[in-house]
Amino acid sequence: MTAEILTGIAELTTNDAELGRLHDAAIVVEDGLIAWVGPAADAPDADARTDLGGRALLPGWVDSHTHLVFSGDRSTEFEHRMAGHAYAAGGIRTTVAATRDAGDDDLREGLRARRRAARAQGTTWMEIKTGYGLDVAEEARLARLASEVSPDVTFLGAHVVPPGVDADDYVDLVAGEMLEAVKPWARWIDVFCETGAFSPEQSRVVLEAGRAAGLGLRVHGNQLGEGDGVRLAVELGAASVDHCNHLSAADVDALGGSDTVATLLPACDLSTREPFPPARALLDAGATLAIASNANPGTSYTTSMPFCVATAVLQMRLTVEEAVWAATAGGARALGRHTGPGAVGGIAPGFRADLLAIDAPSVAHFAYRPGMDLTHAVWEGGVRAV
Ligand code: NIG
Repeated sequence: MTAEILTGIAELTTNDAELGRLHDAAIVVEDGLIAWVGPAADAPDADARTDLGGRALLPGWVDSHTHLVFSGDRSTEFEHRMAGHAYAAGGIRTTVAATRDAGDDDLREGLRARRRAARAQGTTWMEIKTGYGLDVAEEARLARLASEVSPDVTFLGAHVVPPGVDADDYVDLVAGEMLEAVKPWARWIDVFCETGAFSPEQSRVVLEAGRAAGLGLRVHGNQLGEGDGVRLAVELGAASVDHCNHLSAADVDALGGSDTVATLLPACDLSTREPFPPARALLDAGATLAIASNANPGTSYTTSMPFCVATAVLQMRLTVEEAVWAATAGGARALGRHTGPGAVGGIAPGFRADLLAIDAPSVAHFAYRPGMDLTHAVWEGGVRAV
């Protein structure tokens, strides 16, 4: 049992209500977990010591929404969109075709490369969705590959209806045989509840089947227009409803009075040119916010959580503290990983030692110097990863 102390922490973001944000702090890591947190002057002895030299330390990013297993490129679609055409979700089928054509090793290589890129910018925990397979064998294959790099795999068979298939027949397949095949690798089930994807009734069938199979619920909702996604997510007690670009006052109130996390995807909003979600109104209503990358080849081809945090501050008018919290503790809440031994998204005794040290004295620098690579070091479960 080796204890390591990290000292020289100019600013420590703990996300702990009692500890708050500490200055001139130290932490002790033991067996992959945080063992002690406090002022440097009170630090206990340890076997090993790392001096961070006046840098800021925060929890690693918890990216609670990614579509990381895919093949292919949609830059032409992106250019078309930037020339003024709206995003309509049809491009998902392009990625499905490319992904079905790719072998396991190719998919694995792309997946691991994206995971490495995310880690290099401080992401220490990632959820990964299926959704580019859309038949029984392919969805099971994507879930199996995703489970090689994350314990938070989400079954998103209900991403869009594949071409030539009747929508209700497809919903029956997703809620039946496909769910059975994917279940061994999945912790969550998700549905794209939107005009052009799945209706509220179809979404309910999928979510209720997932719940009966023991999976937690997530919803893509209110991305391209007002609709019933948020209402359904709150009614069914989903852990998270993601996108939230087009919310009515009733949606905001419903989220404010629920435990369903509203997950914001700022990089996607820029790439689709959808209006930003009403982040301040959600906070004022008492909603819990998460910020995630939504890494995927169609609407958000980035794994950069610092970029998402900077955008949330500069464009959605969150404070730096609110945005950093949403991208760490908020993501952990969206994944139900915020309590118990080995919890993520915070720096307090008992949390997994998932840490990001930056070449700056304060987390304000994420928004103050947007686009700069600030990573100094990353630890996952107490092990230096970057
Ligand atoms: O979260 N909205 C649905 N799914 C993805 C987009 C996937 C794609 O276009 O390939 C999203 O934005």
